Amino acid sequence: MTPWWQEAVLYQIYPRSFADSDGDGMGDLPGITSRLDYVRDLGVDGIWVSPFYLSPMNDAGYDVADYRRVDPVFGSTADADALLRRAHELGLKVLVDLVPNHTSSEHAWFQAALAAGPGSPERARYHFRDGQGRGGAQPPNRWRSVFGGPGWTRVVEPDGTPGQWYLHLFDVTQPDLNWEHPQVRAEFLDILRYWLDRGVDGFRVDVAHALVKAPGLPDYDDAPAAPLTAAGDERPPTHLAPMWDQDGVHEIYRSWRALLDSYGEPARILCAEAWVHPVERAMLYVRPDEMHQSFAFDFLDTPWRAADLREVIAHDRHALASVGAAPTWVLSNHDVVRTASRLGLPAGSPRPNGLGPRSSVRPDPGLGLRRARAAATLMLALPGAAYLYQGEELGLPDHLELPDEVRQDPVWVRTEHRELGRDGCRVPLPWVGDAPSLGFGPSERTWLPQPPEYAALAVDQQVGRPGSTLELYRRLLTLRREHGVGSAALTELTGYGDEVIAYRLDGRSGALAVVVNLGASGVELPGGSTLLVASDPLVAGRLPTDTAAWLLLAEAP
Ligand code: NOJ
Ligand code: MG
Repeated sequence: MTPWWQEAVLYQIYPRSFADSDGDGMGDLPGITSRLDYVRDLGVDGIWVSPFYLSPMNDAGYDVADYRRVDPVFGSTADADALLRRAHELGLKVLVDLVPNHTSSEHAWFQAALAAGPGSPERARYHFRDGQGRGGAQPPNRWRSVFGGPGWTRVVEPDGTPGQWYLHLFDVTQPDLNWEHPQVRAEFLDILRYWLDRGVDGFRVDVAHALVKAPGLPDYDDAPAAPLTAAGDERPPTHLAPMWDQDGVHEIYRSWRALLDSYGEPARILCAEAWVHPVERAMLYVRPDEMHQSFAFDFLDTPWRAADLREVIAHDRHALASVGAAPTWVLSNHDVVRTASRLGLPAGSPRPNGLGPRSSVRPDPGLGLRRARAAATLMLALPGAAYLYQGEELGLPDHLELPDEVRQDPVWVRTEHRELGRDGCRVPLPWVGDAPSLGFGPSERTWLPQPPEYAALAVDQQVGRPGSTLELYRRLLTLRREHGVGSAALTELTGYGDEVIAYRLDGRSGALAVVVNLGASGVELPGGSTLLVASDPLVAGRLPTDTAAWLLLAEAP
């Protein structure tokens, strides 16, 4: 029997933008609970809910001020319990988000560290250092923040003088914790226990590759970006950077795994958000005594080219199998341009951090949606687990015309507007085509404006409509379950040429094939096979460009 998490499809809910119950324009936990039937009807196995904890919301809740409290904007602890109860009634697993690399600067620990001064035990739970140069006016090293600008900020000491510096790999309001400190380790085990005892089925672990830093915090300049192609991965290994993928993280995850295992069956799970390469390093996170899943971000980052995709899929599967794990496929989340926009860019162009009216590249929306549908049809055919980001099942594009004044991602400010940031993929969902806030909530208010094209893509416009993206996803998820695709044996089908991806899947009921055409001309489907689903209609019996299909293969007599 395959354990549930090895073949599960999990649906990512971004609470701010899923559904608003009280009309304040911000999604909330009662909003999620009220829409869980929709999630169940989609045919997924569970949900991952992005952070809903007490937070000043400088990074949309990834800046946690109290890991055991629900932020009032999202509801109450009782609302979290109600969400869990309803999800479990519907047979859905629930993963919550754990943010262990940093706290909010409003967390009690950081406030205590500021008040206690240099050399205090309170400061030892973070990375405080004296500055360099005259009067310590220069940061301790050249590390940069992922969001732009220096990775260090200087504090004013309790006596009013300019003082030490603290490390923050993300926003200034997200100080990095010092994971060498035993209190930090003990505290997070306790936070895990708190949510496990409330009944959660697991955790998605934020920047799981960042917790441990190289001793002495040695200096480092960011490596230039390099492409990922079938010809080879030219990117320098992540762990050469002293803040990423250090070996010390693994013992932390082993201790968490032991705790989760102590809760018995069915397993409670850990899923790593670790942007780590090459896959020979990424696979270490899913060794049998560590995490259960780790997002296959290489798949998300691979250009829409058959040879590149084939190579990455094969390489990932092979590497993970060597540690007894299955891949966790993903195409989209709240940090990247949505698939329907991203795949509308010229194949191989670097993945932009946001798209807007003045971007140098503009997606072709028709092409993007067509490829997004084919990409989902490919991904859901791959054995292993998969994550879907809310709204992908509607084929939503990014909001490409967001006015600058409404942008909220700290990336926008910290890069001095060089990068637009992630607001475009975080826009509130459309549920009803002709309702205020497109049915997101009972009022007109939405924390980010919705683009006009979302009306026609609303759930009520797609449900039951043949050919809609929503019905495509529902069909794929139904077939995936029926045929046990998530735990099927996959073999590559040859003879289709270089521009086609074709696999045979031996699952629970017979043999299936998935064929994806990325070439210019139509592809003949295997003789005697029955078409189960296609991402777009066949043309003259052939699979056209940028289309994927699942087929039931005729068995030899
Ligand atoms: C990854 C999260 O997905 C992202 O939204 C967040 O900004 C960073 N980690 C920092 O927590
Ligand atoms: Mg609300």
